[in-house]
Amino acid sequence: MTIVNTVDELKSRVAEAIAAGQTIGLVPTMGALHEGHLSLVQRACSECDFVVVSIFVNPTQFNNPEDLRTYPRTLSADVALLSGSTDADIVFAPTAEEIYPTPDTRQFDLTGVGEVMEGKQRPGHFNGVCQIVSKLFAYVSPTRAYFGEKDFQQIAVIKKMVHDLDFKLQIVDCPIVRHADGLAVSSRNALLTPEHRAAAPHIHAVLQASIDWMKNLSPDEVTARVVKEIDDNKLLKVEYYEIVDGLSLRHLSSWDETSYAVGCVTVQAGNVRLIDNIIYKK
Ligand code: PAF
Repeated sequence: MTIVNTVDELKSRVAEAIAAGQTIGLVPTMGALHEGHLSLVQRACSECDFVVVSIFVNPTQFNNPEDLRTYPRTLSADVALLSGSTDADIVFAPTAEEIYPTPDTRQFDLTGVGEVMEGKQRPGHFNGVCQIVSKLFAYVSPTRAYFGEKDFQQIAVIKKMVHDLDFKLQIVDCPIVRHADGLAVSSRNALLTPEHRAAAPHIHAVLQASIDWMKNLSPDEVTARVVKEIDDNKLLKVEYYEIVDGLSLRHLSSWDETSYAVGCVTVQAGNVRLIDNIIYKK
């Protein structure tokens, strides 16, 4: 596994692989790697000949400077983990100056899927995600790029960008990886206090239980009950819970409106925002 810090070296290594007829897998990350990331990289390695993992805490997607400052940065541990448990070929770990030698002023069309939920709560976040992901796609020309379904809305936004900008690649959505107690694995879990970490599995427990409630309750009634039951734990506070169509992310008033219904939640656990989701039907 080679560590590459510059765009020029990344492009030339990928060009060699493409010239040799290899398929290219890309796993974009912000580091602080965990089992969820490893599952993406392992899948990429099983489906592609040459795999690039990017590790870059992208400043343009943080709408809160404190969040950017405290985001965990663990590059040497990340590299050790990747070389010990995957067959990734390249770790691309650039500086912010390498990626943004001049400010990126591009504005992406986030109409629809990018305007709701995280799009509403974190202005500028998805535009920043599109800025970095589109750059990575341009550098690497991947055959496939791998993203975790924990960030359900992010995948929808990236698929829209791929469609709008006519990128020729396949986006591969990979299932959420959970701890044994049900909490979705996330780099932000490391920032939880022991008390908030102990409370956090309640989120998935309530979402899981809510699958039963859909038999008797409308989406809005399920929403109200989910919010109440999560908030019953005094260490957790729901920022939003929305039951949406899994493709358009439009709010559902009735279960009959779609064959693909997903509930997306963001919960404040102390100073940490946790996100999760549950598929009601697909
Ligand atoms: O999901 C993430 O970790 C980031 O949003 C991504 C896709 C790596 C872009 O910085």
